[in-house]
Amino acid sequence: MKQQPVIYQKIRDAVEAIQKKTSLVPEIGLVLGSGLGAVAQKMVDSVTIPYTDIPHFHGTSVEGHAGQMIIGRFHGVPTVILQGRFHRYEGYEMEEVVFPTRTVCGLGIKTLILTNAAGGINTRYRPGDLMVIEDHLNLMGDNPLKGPNLTELGPRFPDLSEAYSKSCIEVIDMAAAELNIPLHHGVYVGLLGPTYETPAEVRMLRTLGGDSVGMSTVPESIAANHLGVRVAGISCITNVAAGLSPHKLTHQEVIDNSKLSVDKLVLLLEKVIPRLVHKPGA
Ligand code: HPA
Repeated sequence: MKQQPVIYQKIRDAVEAIQKKTSLVPEIGLVLGSGLGAVAQKMVDSVTIPYTDIPHFHGTSVEGHAGQMIIGRFHGVPTVILQGRFHRYEGYEMEEVVFPTRTVCGLGIKTLILTNAAGGINTRYRPGDLMVIEDHLNLMGDNPLKGPNLTELGPRFPDLSEAYSKSCIEVIDMAAAELNIPLHHGVYVGLLGPTYETPAEVRMLRTLGGDSVGMSTVPESIAANHLGVRVAGISCITNVAAGLSPHKLTHQEVIDNSKLSVDKLVLLLEKVIPRLVHKPGA
């Protein structure tokens, strides 16, 4: 028998352990950013699995990130939620950062929705605003696909010309318009962190075409695209980026202000998720 690469076997281990706890096959994966855990309260008929009970997962160490997987129905749709993510700035290797993403893809999801708390680089953005991610700038100085390629997962040189699915963006736009929820469209900049940006860096990022900035999302989008899973992304703007605000930025402000957008995010996801369900032949 062919020797499977270690990472591939690890994903299989995690998937099998989860499948022992539920027979539900999720259609949608949803990753919740800092302070956005309230979205998970909308799940019904769900099982909650602490990350520490899933093989090869770590616990989470960042406040505002619970560290659990919830599998159930979100507005009727079989969905898996990752409440809490791993970040490169915590010291995890990229392979560890994207392990939960690869696991939920291994459970059979067709669409991955990535949410995050982000700073607003675009001067029109205010705390509480939502931005649908049209594209990203990977300025993390790293990539989850570096090293030998695993052909079981995807191609050596994946195309990222539609890292955020246009069909998902259309669905999100339509839902936001129906709900009267203002929605920006923009480019998310992924940085390593954990420091927030200097004002000079924020000016640079604006010049480069960035609209929101954070320390996540980019690796997960890359890993899911590699696996052929379509990706949607939504930034919840929690603060104006450094240099655009008269006061200093803290993680507490980010957590507190994520509450300003979470209700809108729930309403939006309740409309969007049922419409993202894959229709055979569509
Ligand atoms: N910068 C980086 N990451 C963030 C920010 C920010 O301003 N706000 C929330 N996450």
